[in-house]
Amino acid sequence: MEQVTDSEKSQDFAQQFKGFSRLSSAERFQRLQALGVLSPADIDYLKNGGISGIELGEKFIENVIGYMQLPLGVATNFRIDGRDLAIPMAVEETSIVAAASKTARWVRDEGYLETRTIGESIIGQIQVADCSNFEHFKNIVESKKEDLIEMANRQVASGMVKRGGGVRDIQVRSIQCENDQLMAVVHVYLDAKDAMGANIVNQVCEFLKIPLQALTGEKVTMCILSNLVDSKVTEAKVTLPNIDPELGEKIEQASLFAQVDPYRASTSNKGVLNGIDPILVATGNDWRAVEAGIHAFAARSGQYRSITQWKMRGKDLVGVFQAPIIVGTVGGVTQLHPTAKMCLEMMKIKEASDLARICAAVGLVQNLGAIKALSTVGIIAGHMKLHIKNLVMAVGATEKEAPALQKKLEEVLLSTGRISTRQAMDAIKEMRTKGHKVVVSS
Ligand code: MEV
Repeated sequence: MEQVTDSEKSQDFAQQFKGFSRLSSAERFQRLQALGVLSPADIDYLKNGGISGIELGEKFIENVIGYMQLPLGVATNFRIDGRDLAIPMAVEETSIVAAASKTARWVRDEGYLETRTIGESIIGQIQVADCSNFEHFKNIVESKKEDLIEMANRQVASGMVKRGGGVRDIQVRSIQCENDQLMAVVHVYLDAKDAMGANIVNQVCEFLKIPLQALTGEKVTMCILSNLVDSKVTEAKVTLPNIDPELGEKIEQASLFAQVDPYRASTSNKGVLNGIDPILVATGNDWRAVEAGIHAFAARSGQYRSITQWKMRGKDLVGVFQAPIIVGTVGGVTQLHPTAKMCLEMMKIKEASDLARICAAVGLVQNLGAIKALSTVGIIAGHMKLHIKNLVMAVGATEKEAPALQKKLEEVLLSTGRISTRQAMDAIKEMRTKGHKVVVSS
């Protein structure tokens, strides 16, 4: 059999993604099947509207009454670490998928996108709220560390150890509280491999509570994982060689704004999360945990800052994202929910860190698209143009009226730079009045 080279495969992706947004859903299915992204069974499942019946929902939460269905789109044109991908995104906000795909095309054509994971362990915390003798506590925990790790790995995390993970380290911190109380906090570092790890790290911490109390004579007050996982950080890096220097400078200035001003950092990070959350939702991951971790990481210097940075390096524009993205690809919803399972398979995810790296890459590209638009044409041009489609539907235009109303509102946008529901309502009213008069006079 003839071998298909990586470059041929890549051209195939580029070809199949050409004009993707203008295709009918049937044609999109066809192309995704041709790329091996969706199977015929996936397509049947999607065409039939996804999960049916309330039973699955009842496995996940309580008092179930149904499902909240979000649109599931595919971000195209991504090549991450030299691998072509079609990325599923579940999200309600217009223009996110389009902007991600458009910016990914730019990066694919003119630059490259690389990712890596720094560190491997998640963190569990054991609190001793009022530590009577911190030095004594710390000395004992440190001298018995290896025994505690061995015990936890043998009695609680043996399954994780079999998969190559387990408890790696234990460290002790002190926190001086305002009321003069000295708090001791034990950090348990655990490699959860492809699991998100929340359950196992919580179990390990609760297990260690008893020996810690017995060894130190101090009272453990609570145990819980931390979402600020600075011990396992995902990095994505975009390089755009020989960028137009004027554009590079504008993007650099926009990035600096988000570095130095928390008001801007918040909005900029929201834009990054526009790329990340939809993938987390599509793959059944805990997006609240990732959000909490990213925001805490963004504030680690004491000031809330952007989690991305764009700088000119000679003639190249280089953008970097760094933050914890703790996700799982085994256990929980990721494997039980058929859509989540399908979405993981669409990206041929082999391990959890693959998924985290894809999220980081899409977040960074989304951020690039946003700040490029903001520092050049502005947000209204791209964002609102797509928003018009929603307005057309929102004011109840019929299938026949929709194209004319869309055109009319695009003209209004072009001439005034603004568009609102009121303007859409006025425009459809005017269209209908005129249409009525024409009918009467003919
Ligand atoms: C809107 O959903 C996201 C942006 O506000 C992000 C940004 O300001 O960088 C456009």
